[in-house]
Amino acid sequence: MVRDEMVVGLGSGTTMMKVVQILARMKSSAVFIPSSSTIQRLASDLGLELSSLDVHDKLDLMIDGADEVDANFDMIKGRGGAHTREKIVAGAAKHVVIVVDRTKLVRRLGERAPVPVEILPFAVGYTIRKLGVLGKPILRLGASGEPFLTDNGNYVVDVKFRSISVPSRLEKRINNVPGVVENGLFVGMADEVVVGHEDGYTILKSKMDFLRFMRGKI
Ligand code: A5P
Repeated sequence: MVRDEMVVGLGSGTTMMKVVQILARMKSSAVFIPSSSTIQRLASDLGLELSSLDVHDKLDLMIDGADEVDANFDMIKGRGGAHTREKIVAGAAKHVVIVVDRTKLVRRLGERAPVPVEILPFAVGYTIRKLGVLGKPILRLGASGEPFLTDNGNYVVDVKFRSISVPSRLEKRINNVPGVVENGLFVGMADEVVVGHEDGYTILKSKMDFLRFMRGKI
């Protein structure tokens, strides 16, 4: 999918680390826009040409991972805390391709994963209390026991919901809470989902593909 003349957004996470290694092995001469400091360092160490949204704000393609994907290709993202920048980069891309393994495919978003919410460190208690009206919020901590810090210098609250029936409505309700920067619900952004599995990979282009894959028909 990646051609040399393209400008390509790179998401974050462990799946994307593998994607970046493959792109480097292919000696791709596309121009890449990274969405986190980790993926930026890796891509630059491996010799990929990097740029930024300030220089290229129209991307041909964005490749990213996800924590959960449903049949509408709506997603929960942000286990690595990079969802705010990922959403901006994905929004600038003509075509968004998500790479996952089959464990990430779900019937309903929120089945397993909480929704990561990036918040300002100012008035953490207040923002968490407000998020508590919507779901069960937990402030994410780093290895040292201090609050986890995003690339933007903010905190992340993981909010667990019993069931997310209308992701687009919840996405807006969370972002309406004062102090919230962005949440990890991605609605209507993905065009294709590449699912890696024991026998290789399957490309899902539609809801029908998703449902057939879940039933073991493709
Ligand atoms: C990064 O913040 C995330 O949005 C990742 O894209 C997502 O959590 C998937 O990560 P893995 O590829 O590590 O599972």
